[in-house]
Amino acid sequence: MPTLGSLPERDGSGHTIALEDECRDLEALDVRLCLVDETDAFEVRRLGLAPARPKRPPAYPEAKEIVHVGAYCGAQLVSVAAFVVEPFEDMETGPAASGRHWRIRGMATRPEYRRSGFASAVLYHGIRLIRKRAAALLWCNGRTTALDFYLRHGFSRIGEERRLPGVQPHFHCVKILEGR
Ligand SMILES: CC(C)(COP(=O)(O)OP(=O)(O)OC[C@H]1O[C@@H](n2cnc3c(N)ncnc32)[C@H](O)[C@@H]1OP(=O)(O)O)[C@@H](O)C(=O)NCCC(=O)NCCS
Repeated sequence: MPTLGSLPERDGSGHTIALEDECRDLEALDVRLCLVDETDAFEVRRLGLAPARPKRPPAYPEAKEIVHVGAYCGAQLVSVAAFVVEPFEDMETGPAASGRHWRIRGMATRPEYRRSGFASAVLYHGIRLIRKRAAALLWCNGRTTALDFYLRHGFSRIGEERRLPGVQPHFHCVKILEGR
């Protein structure tokens, strides 16, 4: 079982790069990053998460703290993610009880806007915001089809692929934020 201190910063594949480096050309991208209303994010999730069907807002009513981040290209909301306080239960120790574990939910980019850096920008902005709230660790159930996105941004894959009824095959993906 991994502990907070034992996770590697890189996954060994050699292609992990620092998030800040990935996003240093944000000015070159026609993007506006901001907090968004969950209702506005729903349409992006409906298109972006197919064949999964996202829950209608409020999708995470149990969340103690939640930050909805979005990227606009012009007037169009093109990429979204929710950052939610939720302990990563696979960790045997750590500051979970103090609410310093955050989970990414509903990360999606409109299909026609993919591979342009918008989800990276959303991730970057979300991490900046939750770091201000003392986040120590960020995790998600990263779809197998999106695994390269998370690895590229310094997440580590934990354990085997998970296959559960009604859920897209995925891996636990974890990124340590504290001290980095
Ligand atoms: C995963 C997803 C959010 C990525 O959004 P995006 O805006 O295209 O991401 P970015 O353009 O910022 O991608 C940055 C890098 O991540 C990697 N990446 C992103 N999508 C990838 C894919 N489908 N396959 C392989 N690598 C991918 C690439 O290295 C990419 O850089 P490059 O385009 O220069 O090669 C988007 O593909 C999506 O909405 N997928 C469907 C929903 C989903 O899987 N959400 C995640 C659920 S956990």
